[in-house]
Formats: sequence, structure tokens, C-alpha cells
Amino acid sequence: MKNATFLVIGGAGYIGSHLVKALIEQHHRVIIVDNLSAGKATAVLGGELIVHDFEDRAFLDQLFQQHQFSGVFHFASQIVVSESVKDPGKYYRANTAATLTLLEALRDHQVGPLVFSSTAAVYGEPLYTPINEQHPTNAVNPYGRSKLMVEQMLADFASAHQQKYIALRYFNAAGADPQARIGEQHDPETHLIPLVLQAITGKRPPLQLFGQDYDTPDGTCIRDYIHVEDLASAHILAMNYLNNGGESGVFNLGNGLGYSVNEVVQTASKVTGEEVPRTYAPRRAGDPARLVADATLAKNTFGWQPQYSDLAEIIQHAWAWELAKN
Ligand code: UFG
Repeated sequence: MKNATFLVIGGAGYIGSHLVKALIEQHHRVIIVDNLSAGKATAVLGGELIVHDFEDRAFLDQLFQQHQFSGVFHFASQIVVSESVKDPGKYYRANTAATLTLLEALRDHQVGPLVFSSTAAVYGEPLYTPINEQHPTNAVNPYGRSKLMVEQMLADFASAHQQKYIALRYFNAAGADPQARIGEQHDPETHLIPLVLQAITGKRPPLQLFGQDYDTPDGTCIRDYIHVEDLASAHILAMNYLNNGGESGVFNLGNGLGYSVNEVVQTASKVTGEEVPRTYAPRRAGDPARLVADATLAKNTFGWQPQYSDLAEIIQHAWAWELAKN
């Protein structure tokens, strides 16, 4: 698809901003809607940024009257699992109800297809690994359930109104733009790799390493870290697939490689040449021992091939961004 116009909701956030960059590199026109509650205007490297709440129906009506989009990418959401347990209403409103408003507007204006940011959290405690899309969904917190409900709405809208969609279930997004122009910048930050790197720079206190008694080779949790650039490329392939007549569905996005928290700490030491200041803490509630993706379906269906499977390279990019950002 050449010189198309795409809408990216939440395009000023961590993953959305990498998609915007990739779309612009492919010479597409991009409209970004982001209320900047978590995103940063400086993360938007091109396109037209509209600072607005996407769940404003009158705003969406106007937007869809003004522009003919070849597709919509929807990243905007609340993402802190522990907060979702304490304040579920915030998650069901921002992630589920707001997306329902979007789906109705897409239906009424016949806009599509939609590529939606889902999560490995829809699976809950895994029954087996690597996890494929046939694994039962049993989200164990409101964050995961808020995303799972959207997946169910997407399926229902697709069968009732022929609205095409792909939901991408991300495992652990990591890394940054290889040129260090954009990268991860959450507030609060809860993700392992930035916390490790910021413990090294002294920007944050020593890392609390949660749990050393899991049923894994070194006793720490295993995760599947997937480079944010590879997530971005998957979104474009998924959108092209739908625009070329492909069918709606859900797909895992991960490397299929598991690394333990200890391996992340050791690799970060190698990459930076510094020890990681750390303390040993009890398990964090709700952390499964092992989350590793089987992403064969995305590879076979729309030809996705992750470019950055090496953890050291992923951390190298995150480190360059950590040093470059203000
Ligand atoms: N960890 C620490 N110390 C920290 C932070 C994390 O030891 O300060 C550990 C966690 O216990 C976990 C691993 O590092 O074992 C990774 O933790 P993250 O918080 O970076 O990522 P999660 O795997 O918990 O979360 C990711 C996504 C969520 C999604 C979830 C699916 O970020 O959005 O996977 O289960 F919900």
C-alpha cells in the first residue's frame, strides 16, 4: 500500500511512536490522536499530532468526515497491572468503554481496518509454554480483562458489521529506536529493563529483584522481550494483510526466546560495563514464572520476522536511549 493515510491513536506513546516513525519512513501520511496523558509530543517524529481524547464521539465524527483513512491503529490505554487491581474502573473506562466508542464510530463511518494493541496478559497464568493463540484466555487482573473484553467486542463487531481487525498480543515490549531518538519513558516506570538501566545511572534506587524461588533454572521469572521496532513492523504487516483481503484474528508477538530476570541483569551489566545496583525482594503478586510466545501464526500469516532477537542488542538500544533522553 503506497502513500496511504493512517490514523494512529496513542501515537505519542512508547510503541505507538515507533509505529508512526515506521509509517513515515514508508512515506505514508499519518494523523496521530493522543491526549498526552502518558505520551510525549516530542516522541512524534512526523505526521500531524492532534491533542485530544479519542473517546470523544463528536470529535471522532468530525475526524472521519475530514479524512479517508486506509486503516486505524489503536494503542491508547492504561497499562499498569497493579493499578488496575486497585482502580479497575479506570481500566474498564479507558481501555474497554472508550474503545467501544471508537468501534461504534468506525462502524458508523465505515472506517477500517483496525489493528489493536492487546497483551499477553489475556492468557493469565500459563498452562504451557511457549504460548500459542489456542491457549485458553484467563486474564487474572482487570488490565488483562479490559483488553480481553475489547478482543471480544472486536470479534462481535466483525461478525455483525464486517469490521475487519487484528488484535496483537504483545509479550514484553523492550528496546528503543536504534538511533536513540525515541524510546521507553513511562511515569511511573514499572518495566524491568528501564528500571535496571536507571538503577545503573543512579536516576532511580537500586533494582528490587522480585522473587528468586520460581520454578525456573535460576529461580527468577522468564519473559519474552520483543524489540519495539519489531512490534512496529508487525503492525504494518498486519494492516497490509487486512487491506489485501486477509481475515480478522488475534496474533501473539514475541521472540519465542525466554530470558530470566537474572539474565537481563547480567546482560545489562555486559552492555553498560557497570554492575546493576540491586536488592532481593519477595515475589511481586500476579507474576507468572514463565511467559514465552509462540508467534508462528504471525510469521506464517503475514510474514512477520523479528529483526532483533538478541537480548544484548535490545538492551544496547534501550541504554543508548537512556543516555540520550533528557
Ligand atoms: N521485575 C523485577 N523488578 C522490577 C520490575 C520487574 O524483578 O522492579 C521483574 C518482574 O517481577 C517480572 C519481570 O521483571 O518477573 C518483568 O517485569 P515487567 O514489569 O517488566 O513486565 P511484566 O512481564 O510484568 O509485564 C508485561 C507487560 C504488561 C503485561 C504483562 C503480561 O509490561 O503490560 O507483561 O503478563 F500485562
